[in-house]
Amino acid sequence: MEKELKLDLFLCKSLLYLLLITNATFSKTTWNVCQFRSVECVCQNVPNNQLKVDCSGRRLLNIPTFSSSVIWVDLSNNLIEEITSGFPKNVRYIDLSANKIQHLDGQPFLGLFHLKTLNLERNVLNISLLYQGVFSDLHSLTELSFKGNIRNEITETVIKDEVFAELSSLKTLKIDGSPNATFGKGFANLTHLQNLDLSGITGNCSLKKISRNMFLYLTRLVYIDVSACSVLDIEKGTFGKLRKLKHLDVSHNRELGFASLPNITHNLKDTSIKTLRANGINCLTGMGTMILKRHLENLKHTNISEIYFEKNRLEQLEPQALRLLPINLTLISFGENKLTT
Ligand SMILES: *[C@@H]1O[C@H](CO)[C@@H](O)[C@H](O)[C@H]1NC(C)=O
Ligand SMILES: *[C@@H]1O[C@H](CO)[C@@H](O)[C@H](O)[C@H]1NC(C)=O
Ligand SMILES: *[C@@H]1O[C@H](CO)[C@@H](O)[C@H](O)[C@H]1NC(C)=O
Ligand SMILES: *[C@@H]1O[C@H](CO)[C@@H](O)[C@H](O)[C@H]1NC(C)=O
Ligand SMILES: *[C@@H]1O[C@H](CO)[C@@H](O)[C@H](O)[C@H]1NC(C)=O
Ligand SMILES: *[C@@H]1O[C@H](CO)[C@@H](O)[C@H](O)[C@H]1NC(C)=O
Ligand SMILES: *[C@@H]1O[C@H](CO)[C@@H](O)[C@H](O)[C@H]1NC(C)=O
Repeated sequence: MEKELKLDLFLCKSLLYLLLITNATFSKTTWNVCQFRSVECVCQNVPNNQLKVDCSGRRLLNIPTFSSSVIWVDLSNNLIEEITSGFPKNVRYIDLSANKIQHLDGQPFLGLFHLKTLNLERNVLNISLLYQGVFSDLHSLTELSFKGNIRNEITETVIKDEVFAELSSLKTLKIDGSPNATFGKGFANLTHLQNLDLSGITGNCSLKKISRNMFLYLTRLVYIDVSACSVLDIEKGTFGKLRKLKHLDVSHNRELGFASLPNITHNLKDTSIKTLRANGINCLTGMGTMILKRHLENLKHTNISEIYFEKNRLEQLEPQALRLLPINLTLISFGENKLTT
């Protein structure tokens, strides 16, 4: 009873707080109608006489000609097929997601030395056709997304490492995972690359197999998401070589099975692992699964704090299996299973 009251009070307080915050931000962010040639968008003034421009969802066929004070551009949800006119040279943020861009030509990002975020999600770009020089001016780019660039079925694409090697500040790469995707030695140049998102939930992923060498040149990864990637097979020790790895998500690969856990967790004690998500990695049909000691034993000497094993049709635990859980574990989630013991 008392607990409930406390919770209510807490919720009330948080709500109030939320209201206060949103009010505060509303009063600061006013968007006014603005025009670039004949194109009407909404703009917001930001310090130093700079402008943020939102031209999303306006059925635009072309990129408007922006003034040089523009530093932030949202062009998502339009019908743009080509990057023709250049962007203003101080632009920091470009969102071109959900357009119809089929290919890049020449130097679409020429002189964009300050660009930090480039979102090309949900276009119809062919990753295999990226060419050397296309990113050569993007010295400051920290986040790049190419997800959801597949129309029909997922075919093998080539991720040209020498093209990506030019993105020396890149921290976050979100890309579709085609079968047998590799990240070649040019990726060794990306010394800041920490986050790799291949998830099929927000894009298209069909890796099938994750080989031991897939992340060989991505030694600084902290976060890996290979959820919903139709993975059947993960080679032993693939993740155990990534010293900085903290968050790993292998969820929603139904054909992996708990039998692959020993391979997935092999040498994770040598990493910085904190959270492991393995929700929905067992087949939906057939017999329920038993958690065996060997599924967990590699985790014992890690400093992991959260494990998620939801939706796995788990029914039983081998005696003593839970004793193998790591000492600093604060959360283990068995939601939506049918555990009886
Ligand atoms: C992408 O380009 C490669 C190389 O030219 C080609 O083999 C492949 O069929 C293209 N993929 C699609 C989906 O058009
Ligand atoms: C690797 O990054 C450096 C900057 O850190 C850059 O000068 C060099 O051109 C890059 N190498 C390749 C192959 O792009
Ligand atoms: C992709 O991987 C599968 C399974 O390992 C293999 O049979 C196939 O030959 C590979 N394809 C290519 C193009 O390497
Ligand atoms: C690719 O991903 C997008 C975004 O998640 C999705 O809408 C689309 O249906 C996917 N296409 C295929 C062939 O999986
Ligand atoms: C574990 O990895 C080895 C090779 O590293 C592979 O031969 C084996 O099939 C994998 N086992 C499972 C259950 O994926
Ligand atoms: C568990 O956490 C404590 C303090 O947070 C730390 O000193 C200890 O080394 C951790 N144990 C392992 C196995 O890393
Ligand atoms: C273990 O994790 C805790 C927090 O989760 C952290 O405070 C501690 O420093 C870690 N210990 C080691 C040895 O990594």
